[in-house]
Amino acid sequence: MKRLGFYIGFITITMTLLAAPALMAQSDKMTLDSSKGGAGKKRPAVIFQHNLHAEKGLSCKDCHHLYEKGENVLDESKLVEGSKEIQCSACHGSKSKLNLEEAYHGQCIGCHKKPMKDQKKTPPRYCGGCHVRK
Ligand code: HEC
Ligand code: HEC
Ligand code: HEC
Ligand code: HEC
Repeated sequence: MKRLGFYIGFITITMTLLAAPALMAQSDKMTLDSSKGGAGKKRPAVIFQHNLHAEKGLSCKDCHHLYEKGENVLDESKLVEGSKEIQCSACHGSKSKLNLEEAYHGQCIGCHKKPMKDQKKTPPRYCGGCHVRK
């Protein structure tokens, strides 16, 4: 039994160490600005609490994707800070089916409108709930 306890402890520590880099790779508060601060921005940039969302039991692949034949085949180890290929803008540009604004609205508002269990507050659906004026 002592040995079993040791192995379980070992596995738990290993799993924690493996999970840590993924969690640490995320910035806590991100400023999302689809126009990169350029002229013509109509709404204030959105402050997005990345960790808060991950803590709500969402999987990385609920938001991050790489589609192949309609399936999300993203390798989660590719989700590292500073990587350009995982940014929404890498694929959602002015020429794509969904531009950047549509991609953000589709994902953010789409999920916020879904009924969710165990939630204390309704996530924001109105403009000012995300585009907060300072
Ligand atoms: C609710 C949606 C959502 C969930 C869940 C989510 N992310 Fe993100 N993540 C985003 C958005 C939006 C961005 C900003 C993308 C951009 O800048 O184009 C982002 C950016 C990132 C970045 C880039 C950070 C930087 O500054 O370079 C990393 C790394 C990342 N996410 C990792 C993860 C990992 C790992 C998980 C799972 C534990 C996860 N994300 C879960 C929405 C999410
Ligand atoms: C590697 C390229 C790539 C990246 C990075 C990417 N997308 Fe997509 N996304 C696609 C493709 C391809 C589709 C399928 C529809 C299409 O052809 O535009 C899609 C579809 C969507 C959809 C429609 C619903 C769905 O999930 O199928 C939304 C919403 C969306 N993306 C939002 C985002 C957001 C927000 C980010 C950043 C967190 C992001 N995408 C990052 C390529 C990408
Ligand atoms: C897959 C589901 C899902 C997606 C996608 C998602 N959210 Fe949320 N969001 C939630 C949940 C769940 C909460 C928390 C409600 C609560 O407090 O219980 C939340 C809360 C929030 C809040 C209020 C908390 C705060 O930070 O003040 C904001 C703002 C927010 N989300 C912005 C965004 C933005 C911007 C995006 C897109 C980049 C996004 N969300 C994408 C599920 C989602
Ligand atoms: C759940 C969060 C959320 C809600 C609700 C929301 N947005 Fe957005 N919106 C975003 C995110 C994230 C972006 C991309 C970051 C940015 O550029 O601000 C964006 C981008 C935009 C843009 C393009 C950039 C700009 O400022 O010109 C416009 C315009 C916009 N939203 C208008 C609206 C309007 C109008 C409403 C209400 C009908 C609304 N949004 C509701 C999250 C949201």
